[in-house]
This record gives sequence, structure tokens and C-alpha cells, in this order.
Amino acid sequence: MARLTTLFFLLALALGVSCTSKYISSLELQLQVRKGLRLISTEEGSDPIWKTEDEILQLKRDHTPFVDVTDVYSTWRKLPGSRSASRLSQADKIICAFKDHDPEPQYQNELAPILANVSIPEMERNLQKLTSFNNRWFMSTSGVEASNWVYSRVQEIVDGFDRPDVTVTLFDHTWPQGSIIARIDGESDGPLTILGSHLDSVNQQDSMRGRAPGADDDGSGVVNVMEVLRSLLAAEFKPETPVEFHWYAAEEAGLRGSTEIATKYKAQGLEVQAFMQMDMTAYFKPGTEEVIALLPDYVDSDLNEYVKTLITEYNRIPWAMEEPCGYSCSDHFSWDMHDYPTVFPFEAVTGDYNPRMHTTDDTAQLRGFSWEHSLEFAKLAVAFVYELSASAEWRSR
Ligand SMILES: *[C@@H]1O[C@H](CO)[C@@H](O)[C@H](O)[C@H]1NC(C)=O
Ligand SMILES: [Zn+2]
Repeated sequence: MARLTTLFFLLALALGVSCTSKYISSLELQLQVRKGLRLISTEEGSDPIWKTEDEILQLKRDHTPFVDVTDVYSTWRKLPGSRSASRLSQADKIICAFKDHDPEPQYQNELAPILANVSIPEMERNLQKLTSFNNRWFMSTSGVEASNWVYSRVQEIVDGFDRPDVTVTLFDHTWPQGSIIARIDGESDGPLTILGSHLDSVNQQDSMRGRAPGADDDGSGVVNVMEVLRSLLAAEFKPETPVEFHWYAAEEAGLRGSTEIATKYKAQGLEVQAFMQMDMTAYFKPGTEEVIALLPDYVDSDLNEYVKTLITEYNRIPWAMEEPCGYSCSDHFSWDMHDYPTVFPFEAVTGDYNPRMHTTDDTAQLRGFSWEHSLEFAKLAVAFVYELSASAEWRSR
């Protein structure tokens, strides 16, 4: 018996069977969730860990990136990124939308009048309302009210135009706060172009009751995406391939909204040609050079190269490469984990971005908050959506 066990052990070793990863049954998941625990991943290649709500808030205070995989555990544990130690070097992305191609910006004439109409006052008005909710935590009453307001505001924007090809949906999750999805159908079918942002906010001392205006994080991205949608509809833009605009719930609680949505899209076999995340676009440290900082990790490097050409063509400020973020820093991560090509232009490089995020001081009055800066990100996103979805040519890549 003992010898047989040894033999089996040696065989397992020889076959490379991993003995370190412990599978969590759905029964155990349910029991732990009932105890108030969440399954949290903070590191690539390691098993997720059960954490209490307090421990999760401590991760926020420590600026430790994490993703809550509780609700998607059965899918998530099979993803290569959750097991492999060096995903950055992994060269086998399934969707190679930007490979073997040297795309150039090509709609300068069409984009010029649209970019000129991207409006700071519109964004300012939307942000004023958005920051008036006490906080936008995914479990708080005001967090639900804020999500409902985003839903009605986006619907109102769309209602301003005669566009039966545009729909607005409230995406229900298993928690109170919903995500919002607006979609412009393509003239024909084809892979999606998605702009993402997160509508929740957090006070890292007291998530349920604390004041969390979240003007920059991520009110800026929320109103950027609203304004991109409005500008494109005002210009009567009709894409060749479909475009979606996402405002996620529960990003601050571990990318929960985007994780659920990306998992669902993957399960449905939906193709996404490009995903851009807008999270914190309005602050840069006074006195430093204004840039659009591009994240190098958990993104598609070819898409990054392409976005550099868009910035050079359409923005008044240059791009700069940011340091690796390390792990699950924003909602693009949820899409990257499912092998969709993502890009994440961020307000500034390390040391120069908003030091007051997740506090009561993340307001539009903070010194360093700049609408002119945020406008550049909205313009970049307009160009990104237009260039990628306007032509059928993109579909053949
Ligand atoms: C820009 O805004 C003006 C004034 O609202 C409008 O007349 C014009 O059609 C807009 N142009 C585009 C391309 O959206
Ligand atoms: Zn954020």
C-alpha cells in the first residue's frame, strides 16, 4: 500500500501534476460567501485567498491590486493568466487583431469637426451630478442611486438623437449596484470595439458611509465615455462594426462588474477587436509635463503601438510609457484575462498621478485636476472608436 502510494506520487511528479493548487468546490464557495468571505486573487500564478470585507479594504489602503474571483471561480481557475507565472512573455494571444498589420490613422478629415465638438462643459455638468452622491460604493444606497442616475443620463443622451440602432441596458449583478452598457449596432456584424470606465467610488476608511466623491477616480472616465458617446451621436456617426460603452459597477471591490461581463462575453463567443479603459484622466501633478501614460502590462502591446499613433495624430500632448502596474489595476484586466486585446491610457506616470484617490479629497477642486487634460483622453477615445469601427477593412484583420 505504502509502496503503491509512493509509486503514484512519483508518477504524478513525473507527469507534472500540480499538487499545490487546491480546487474549491461550489459548496465550499457558497458556505464561505455566506460567512461574508470573498475569494481574492492578488498575484498571478497563485491560488486566490479567502478574505473578509475589512481585509479587502486594507488592500485598498495598501494600494495592492486585487481581483474578486468568487462569482467566476469555475471559469477563472482555468484561465492561463491565473496559473502562469509570466503572462507578459506569453505570445499566443488567440485574437491577433493587430498582428501582421501596420494600421495608420485615416479619418483625419471626418474626425476634425467631431473632436472640435467634444465638450468640457458637458463633462463638467455630468461630473457635478455624479460627485453629488455621498459615495458610489457598490453596496451603499447612494451607490445604487448613482448607478441609476448614470443609466438615466446615458438614456437621456441617446434619446436626444433619432437612433433606433442605439440601445442602453442596465446590467444586473448579484449585488445591488448595476453596470450600464450602451451599444451602437454596426452596419454589419463584426468584432466589438469597447470603451470602459467604472461608475463606483470608494472611501478607503469607510466604504459604506464615508464620503467618496471620486471625481477623478473614476468620475473623469465616466464622463469621458458619456461625452464620447454624445459627440459621436451628434456627428451622426454610424459604425461599420458594433461599438459598446461600458460603465462598470464594483471596480473598487475587485473588478467585479467587468469580470462578470467579460466572462459572459467570452462564454457567448463574442469577438472584441479592442478594449480601452478610461480610469483616472483628469489629474497631473502641477509643474510636471502633461502626458498620456500608457500601461505596459496586462494590455496588448500591438494595440499600445497603435494607440501611440492615434495620440501623435490627434492629441496636443505626447504619450509616455508608464511603469508596469503589476496586476489587476483596472477593468481592462478583466478583458485581458480572457485574451481580448486591451489598452489603458492613464492620467500620468508614477509619482505624478492623483495622490488623493479613494479619499474625501478626490474632487474637481483639487489642485492638479484639469479639464483640459481630461479632454485629451475623451478626444483620444473618440478617435479610437471611430478609427476602429468605421471601416469594414478592420474586420479582415
Ligand atoms: C458641432 O456642434 C455644432 C453646434 O452644436 C453642430 O451644429 C455641428 O453639427 C456639430 N458637428 C459635429 C460634427 O458634430
Ligand atoms: Zn479607479
